[in-house]
Amino acid sequence: MCGIIGYVGKENALPVLIEGLRRESYRGYDSSGVVVFGKDAQIVKAVGKLEALEEKLGSFRIQGGLGVGHVRWATHGGVTEENAHPHADCNGNIFVVHNGIIENYRILREKLEKRGHTFASQTDTEVLSHLIEDFFEGNLEDAVRKALQLVRGTYGLVVIAKQDPEKLVAARLSSPLVLATNTEGGYVASDPAALVSHSNKMVFLEDGEVAVITEHGFQVSDLFNVSKVKEAVELEWSVEEAQKGGYEHFMLKEIMEQSESILNSLRGRLVEKEGKAKLGGLDPVKDRLQNVDRLIISGMGTAYIAALVGEYMLEEHVGIPVEAENAAEFRYRKPIISDNTAFLAISQSGETADTLGALREAKEKGAFTLGIVNAVGATVSRETAAGVYNHAGPEIGVASTKAFTSQLVVLALLTLYLGRQRGMSLVTGQRIAKELGRIPELVRRILDQADRIAVLAEKYWKYSNFLYIGRKYNYPIALEGALKLKEISYTHAEGYGAGEMKHGPIALIDENFPTIAIVPSDSVYEKMISNIQEIKTRKGPVIAIATEGNTEIGDIADDVIYIPKTLEMLTPILAVIPLQLFAYFFGVAKGYDVDKPRNLAKSVTVE
Ligand code: M6R
Repeated sequence: MCGIIGYVGKENALPVLIEGLRRESYRGYDSSGVVVFGKDAQIVKAVGKLEALEEKLGSFRIQGGLGVGHVRWATHGGVTEENAHPHADCNGNIFVVHNGIIENYRILREKLEKRGHTFASQTDTEVLSHLIEDFFEGNLEDAVRKALQLVRGTYGLVVIAKQDPEKLVAARLSSPLVLATNTEGGYVASDPAALVSHSNKMVFLEDGEVAVITEHGFQVSDLFNVSKVKEAVELEWSVEEAQKGGYEHFMLKEIMEQSESILNSLRGRLVEKEGKAKLGGLDPVKDRLQNVDRLIISGMGTAYIAALVGEYMLEEHVGIPVEAENAAEFRYRKPIISDNTAFLAISQSGETADTLGALREAKEKGAFTLGIVNAVGATVSRETAAGVYNHAGPEIGVASTKAFTSQLVVLALLTLYLGRQRGMSLVTGQRIAKELGRIPELVRRILDQADRIAVLAEKYWKYSNFLYIGRKYNYPIALEGALKLKEISYTHAEGYGAGEMKHGPIALIDENFPTIAIVPSDSVYEKMISNIQEIKTRKGPVIAIATEGNTEIGDIADDVIYIPKTLEMLTPILAVIPLQLFAYFFGVAKGYDVDKPRNLAKSVTVE
């Protein structure tokens, strides 16, 4: 969730650093800082938004071609300027920016203090600058390597030193770092979004690697100075894609572009005539997949909810046992895994700590590992045997929207891919493929109702509590609707399977407790109607998400949002869109910063 940027080259470093930090700020942060080497090292830090840093920088004229910057999301030590990065050594010679957690920092700090080092912050990071100082004998990368051999924990870090001033030294262990170069110099960042305006060719560091970046290029080696050959990855993301495109918020832009992002997820992957899905990333492991007799799908937050939908899709149409697992819980259970168990990690960022933890646990126990990832080159994609990219484009808003619908689309493609390997009929395959091909157009029809949904949000925004209910494929969508409302509008919302109502939640219902019922015309429609009647009997207001052409629901619910008819397994992709829009307009009506909800970060890279 913290962000790193570093630059060395012909340009003035400061604007490069600020632009990079701005592009990384979507991850969530509470303070920021930069250091630039010119005639001297100039370091400026500020608490709060980047504007506060820029305001402070206004009175400085920092010139120099080498610098690093950081946006911090506090873990160790409060939100203060002292704790903001960069962190210096005792003499103001060495400066470090760091993402991750140094687990043995207390012991290291005690030892360093005994040797006379004085600390200026409460952070775990500051031990790094002092440790590096201890080992520094004129060559920065040598000192970094020696220091890191004593460190336990996780890091993505970049270091610069006044006494070795032509380079950035970067190192990675479980916290992403990416490098790029152009004719103006060398760059390093924790997020490719910070570098897209400089180059679309990027080199991702792996765990245990150390990079020395100069104006003319970079060299990568390991902690013991054994050289590594690295290949650049070409990213498709343009600068424009990472901008708001005329919308007031990234979240709205990302909701409204779902017709297109879904099309991108489907592009080139449907073979309608043969009723099949083409997933190039899985072809090399096609035979291995044939032997899989159990599938675990895991992720966190919205990605976990996508896994729950996947469980319904794959069990119904592929016929293998599937379990959706919350990654944070899975990693600490004693999961039973056989050689023929496949573990599928779902993650927009591909960097979520718990998802990675669960993936590594499953791998360690012998699972065959797969990934569904949006961020090209992210750790999940590199640590799995095979996988499928979402191709949904960068998701900047903290609330996951287009990544979620894309995850559902990829899970539907996977269902088709595996289903046709395992006895799904040609006719069923063709029906699913054809209907998947229609989804972008059906999504567009729902998005056209955005203004009406804004009016509904206006009508309901003063209520403080909401219940979301659904069944079967749309039970997870009840969870997702409630999660969206919570994170964007700080309003209490609970998602339940409608069958659970009579076992407790119905006690909450009165005229001040509205329910959002997801009730498409599917195999559990009648049961949903009974649940809605029970709520109405207790005077609870009901907003229904129903299928176009339903003539009954208008007489039962207070308000109805209609979605087009589709196959039951694809209804979650459509049903979630009104709920995303409702949460967005609700949060806006309450006056909140919907792109950066309080206490949340886009990418949760610590446990
Ligand atoms: O990057 P990931 O998909 O692994 O992120 C997982 C969750 O942190 C994420 O979906 C989170 O729940 C979102 N804020 C939900 O909108």
